Amino acid sequence: MNKLRTTITAIGKYTPKRILANPELEKMVDTTDEWIRTRTGVIERHIVEKGEATSDMGAAAFEDMKNRFSVDPLDIDLIIVATVTPDMFFPSTAAIIQHSIGAKNAWGFDLSAACSGFLYALVAGLQFIETGQHQKVLIFGADTMSSITDYTDRNTCVLFGDAASVVLLESTKGNDDSGIIDSIVKMDGAGQKYLYMAGGGSKNPPTHETIDKKMHYLYQEGRPVFKFAVSKMVETATEILERNSLTGQDITLFVPHQANIRIINACASKLKLKDEQVMRNIDKYANTTAATIPLGLIEAMDEKRIKKGDIILLTAFGGGFTWGSILLRWGFNYG
Ligand code: UT7
Repeated sequence: MNKLRTTITAIGKYTPKRILANPELEKMVDTTDEWIRTRTGVIERHIVEKGEATSDMGAAAFEDMKNRFSVDPLDIDLIIVATVTPDMFFPSTAAIIQHSIGAKNAWGFDLSAACSGFLYALVAGLQFIETGQHQKVLIFGADTMSSITDYTDRNTCVLFGDAASVVLLESTKGNDDSGIIDSIVKMDGAGQKYLYMAGGGSKNPPTHETIDKKMHYLYQEGRPVFKFAVSKMVETATEILERNSLTGQDITLFVPHQANIRIINACASKLKLKDEQVMRNIDKYANTTAATIPLGLIEAMDEKRIKKGDIILLTAFGGGFTWGSILLRWGFNYG
């Protein structure tokens, strides 16, 4: 079977209307705007309204995609939703989104890889395009982090926000050389103890006790996660550049996962990138887990920072631990 090349042909985003800015958090926990800005880079984050779920944000992101590009939901073959905050255990958020957007001919599934979820889902989705099994695959990165955040814990509540973004994958046409060039995805389950949500699953089914112990909220030991994040993101970014005979100078834009501005800056400096080569929007959205990278891509597109033919490097690190890098050549001009 001939291997086809996969490219992103459309993109959409949604961020909830309600904004939770640092001064409001100062009233909720023992923190300061100054600490949050300097230690994380976050100024504000978007938070869903009560009752608004991950699938609602995903459907709204698809609506944005439809408003920008010509996409017919009936043409979609497969929906993959990268999320750690599904609407519920089952049915999958993919099934719920399939129904709400009217993608009647699609099958799909959820994929759990925390902050690396979007990269994992891209790699999963492109297999179906490259083998010719499917023509149109939707990849969602969507997380309602506010649903698993303890707003009395200053160690975590300042870090996260809610958002969804979606890309459409198709094969490249003719001799177009755009598309996903290479990918590296990694996992090390030894890292599970540093970043997790213990309650609610089969290990600790929900009881009054698990609720009292706040096990339904995410837990993070920030320092080791920080250390691993920088070293693993730089490691895969360097490896993917080297094995494609490229250097940092060859890429137009580095779109890293947005967990901490100090992680982003450390990676950029180790990769010897100039400021204008690095996507940073953590100030506006905080860490939106699986949504950060596609949100970075669409904002870069809207800001005209990327055009057809540009080389883009995506890199993420998250719970699991999971991490990876994807190298791609952008396929279109927008606006
Ligand atoms: O997206 C998935 C992957 N996640 C990440 O990549 C996150 C990686 N980790 C981080 O970004 C950082 O470790 C954090 C932002 C979570 C924490 O920053 P840090 O510089 O590593 O701080 P720390 O945890 O070492 O804490 C330093 C101090 C502590 O006080 P003491 O023990 O020194 O008195 C904390 O209690 O800062 C305190 N602290 C705060 N102070 C004010 C922690 N959170 C806050 C806060 N406001 N919100």
